[in-house]
Amino acid sequence: MNLNNALPQHIAIIMDGNGRWARQQGKKRTQGHKEGAKVVREITQWCANSHIPYLTLYAFSTENWKRPKMEISYLMKLLEKYLKEERATYLKNNIRFRVIGDINAFSTSLQNAILELEHLTQNHTNLTQILALNYGSHNEIARTFIKLANSQSQNKLSKLTAQEVAELINANLDTATLPDVDMLIRTGGEKRISNFLLWQASYAELFFTPTLWPNFTTDELDKLMGEFCERQRRFGGL
Ligand code: IPE
Ligand code: IPE
Ligand code: MG
Repeated sequence: MNLNNALPQHIAIIMDGNGRWARQQGKKRTQGHKEGAKVVREITQWCANSHIPYLTLYAFSTENWKRPKMEISYLMKLLEKYLKEERATYLKNNIRFRVIGDINAFSTSLQNAILELEHLTQNHTNLTQILALNYGSHNEIARTFIKLANSQSQNKLSKLTAQEVAELINANLDTATLPDVDMLIRTGGEKRISNFLLWQASYAELFFTPTLWPNFTTDELDKLMGEFCERQRRFGGL
């Protein structure tokens, strides 16, 4: 086997297919989300054991507010429960927890749970698990522009080169300090990005699998990582 790449430093996953999994099982959509949360646990643990430095998981998009209120409130409760239950796992495995997205839209108790876990794990040096919550690339980039406009004078910005502005944007996105995505996986069969990490995944290797998220396994991830290592990445060069 000809291996072109080292292991990915940053894996990002669009965890799709919970609802369809539930329908297949004759269950409610919410049961699909509950089952999906178990897979988050397994994949995170596996990445930590495999020395992957960064894993970003798309858990709730800025567009997911279009869903029925009942499903949204179930997802919020599930998330809060997950953060409480997993606390021990983050501590035991030296996993750092971070969030990207605009969490201001969440309840105070959920925001506090997020901030507490981020704070508690901030010095952890094994895997960094990043949850994308109320995340959308357009929203993130727009917030970055607002941040820059408020912190830099227009006069100063207009004198910068495009390259310098690109670096400034990069350093002010929610993902500032994270490396670009190497490997972007979407489960559930759809072949689209759905507003996820548009800036950061500009040179990511893309993987689309029909497996519904609750059925996704560490064995499949291992297989996809094998494929990743065989791909030739050129970044515009030869
Ligand atoms: C992904 O599964 C989870 C979230 C978006 C929260 P879906 O809920 O989108 O599942 P499908 O696509 O309807 O099967
Ligand atoms: C993408 O899944 C968002 C998350 C996995 C959180 P969706 O199910 O919301 O995406 P679309 O609507 O099919 O593009
Ligand atoms: Mg979906």
